[in-house]
Amino acid sequence: MKLLIKGGTIVDPVARRMFPGDVLISEGKIVAVGGGENLANGEIELLDASGKLVTPGLVDLHVHLREPGFEAKETIETGTRAAARGGFTSVACMPNTNPVADNKTVITYIRLRAREKGAVHVFPIGAITAGCAGRELAEMADLKEAGAVAFSDDGHCVADSGVLYRAMQYARMLGLPIIEHCEDTGLSAGGLVHEGYFSTVLGLKGIPAAAETVMVARDIILAEATGCKLHIAHVSTAGAVELVRQAKAKGLAVTAEATPHHFSLTDEAVLGFDPNTKVNPPLRSAADVQAICAGLRDGTIDVIATDHAPHAPEEKDVEYGNAPFGMVGLETAVGLVWTKLVHPGILDPIEAIAKLTINPARILGIPKGTLEAGADADLTIIDPELEAVVDPARFASKGRNTPFAGWRLKGLPVATIVGGRVVYRREAPGG
Ligand code: DOR
Ligand code: ZN
Repeated sequence: MKLLIKGGTIVDPVARRMFPGDVLISEGKIVAVGGGENLANGEIELLDASGKLVTPGLVDLHVHLREPGFEAKETIETGTRAAARGGFTSVACMPNTNPVADNKTVITYIRLRAREKGAVHVFPIGAITAGCAGRELAEMADLKEAGAVAFSDDGHCVADSGVLYRAMQYARMLGLPIIEHCEDTGLSAGGLVHEGYFSTVLGLKGIPAAAETVMVARDIILAEATGCKLHIAHVSTAGAVELVRQAKAKGLAVTAEATPHHFSLTDEAVLGFDPNTKVNPPLRSAADVQAICAGLRDGTIDVIATDHAPHAPEEKDVEYGNAPFGMVGLETAVGLVWTKLVHPGILDPIEAIAKLTINPARILGIPKGTLEAGADADLTIIDPELEAVVDPARFASKGRNTPFAGWRLKGLPVATIVGGRVVYRREAPGG
């Protein structure tokens, strides 16, 4: 069966073009992307995309699917359904599961489980160190052989510079990036929120911006020394943005991501003590948020990734100090990108889509994020004018831990297509 996506505006982040056109799909592949001529003949299913943007399937290079081990928080099945509902056709999942994805068996398990239960493509990330404990290197070559697309101890920083240096030498040899969670725990220890005016007002222990920034500096130095590709996860400070900017100017293979929560919210959101605002790195100051927006705009920040971190309601519904760090992100990401970045003119739709497709795909070295003829038919359809109020009760994720409940967002995914199959279609307002 063929599928024709008709009458939309094609957003091509590779050619950096936007134009009216149709997309023809057959046998799970993109056959042709046309500028208006009639692509179809024979028996064909039609998907009307008039007034909508037709983009390569979105790629989220930073999610926590929690399986194996934490199935009460999320599973590969529910997490990938949340991805589909959020417009994502590929996700890369972090290794802080139980057991940790620090060996072939867990990587293989995730891939098989995703093939069986996943609504979208899943690309596992292997641990840098055994148990993400920061001491012994994981069997990095084995992890790559089993299908890992990158290495990360996300949730933890690799504190020991010697360990990270050796990991970077291996990663360079293997041609895969290191994704670092940059946090100096000597500076962050015991902290709950950004250290600043609001931590003082609320009487909560602060995490200084320097906790992130010093580690970004160290990691860039080590990446230069080893020639390793370095990707900085969830950049939250103005200082980190500036260091990445300088590293790029020097020609180093350093890339960075920002999350929707770090460009949409400041630490003021913690007033009221909602545990759903507790995240690591923390929501930062207005000046940091401005710096992140500037970094997104000038290309310093290559990627928008969610750091989707589901937790069970009973874990989050406790006093601020005892709640785990993390918030869900897959089902609000596109709405926040359009509402906070595209509609206000910080990013044009092509740049926004590049940061959600081809840029993360290139960093991971996966053949996604393009609309080329012959590519897998993974596509996302976005209605830039559609508005809805965030209702966590409708999430496909098991996690309901979002600070965006009740927010009205404008610009939403309306259909998600994976391998030529429609895996999500927005039916009704609020759907
Ligand atoms: O808030 C966070 N939650 N930050 C992390 O680095 C880890 C994540 C998690 O796994 O819950
Ligand atoms: Zn994370």
